[in-house]
Amino acid sequence: VVNSFHSRQRGEQTTAEIIAAGGRAVHVWGSVAQAAHLQNIFREIDSRFGGSDFLVSNAGNGFIAPLKDVRPEHLLKAFHTNVVALHQAAMLGAGLMGRRGGGKIVAISSIGAHLSFDYFGCNGTAKAALECLVRYLAVELAPHNIQVNAVSAGVIDGEWLRQFPDRPRFEAVVPRQRLNSEQEILEALLFLLTHGGTNGASWTADAGAGLCICEPISARPRTRTAESPSPQRGTEHVR
Ligand SMILES: NC(=O)c1ccc[n+]([C@@H]2O[C@H](COP(=O)([O-])OP(=O)(O)OC[C@H]3O[C@@H](n4cnc5c(N)ncnc54)[C@H](OP(=O)(O)O)[C@@H]3O)[C@@H](O)[C@H]2O)c1
Repeated sequence: VVNSFHSRQRGEQTTAEIIAAGGRAVHVWGSVAQAAHLQNIFREIDSRFGGSDFLVSNAGNGFIAPLKDVRPEHLLKAFHTNVVALHQAAMLGAGLMGRRGGGKIVAISSIGAHLSFDYFGCNGTAKAALECLVRYLAVELAPHNIQVNAVSAGVIDGEWLRQFPDRPRFEAVVPRQRLNSEQEILEALLFLLTHGGTNGASWTADAGAGLCICEPISARPRTRTAESPSPQRGTEHVR
């Protein structure tokens, strides 16, 4: 089942593409941030399929702005879309998964839950709560054979990022100098949807971006030689 809300046409298009590729898919429109819509989405899943194996909680709607511009309604929207939606969907989904003997839930988070990015305070706060909820859900749903994890993505080289032509060069702090693609995030998601041995985890998929605090040095560091016994301040390296 493919869900979309603001981008109904895109949701219907994605569904058509899955069917054209030989898969089975149904599009169900509705907001995951509205309890009545969510109930309708799961009623639809129940009536069409009689159960569920997987739930991917991908929706996010956080205001990108400095915290001085973030108003209570922005935080509430971010929490409703990321956190309340996951809780409600997990509860409704667990009922349908129970009929199949269990299932897997994966929520999409961000390394901004643990780090600080400019203008990400509203989103990052909601993602931190989402990851905490993932851990609690993992424990409470384990007796029903349902595993709950998060993919904690770094900045993704994809459609969303292309909206910001003046964005910082996030690649600079990725050791391989390349951001994860949408496909690479999908691979992490598929792993968690199929792997049995991980529960309650925030699976970091940032290509190592969170490990580095600055760009790699461009110059080869000077080493001690007879001619230059004291390396310049700040360039001495332990080998
Ligand atoms: N792009 C990145 O660099 C990055 C990095 C880390 C994590 N993430 C996370 O990855 C997920 C997807 O983000 P994206 O990159 O595709 O950015 P995006 O374009 O902002 O996507 C937001 C997604 O959430 C859905 N959504 C928002 N409000 C909804 C609602 N009330 N009900 C149902 N769906 C709703 C949107 O669908 P509709 O338009 O149909 O509402 C859209 O699919 C988000 O959780 C985001 O936080 C993204």
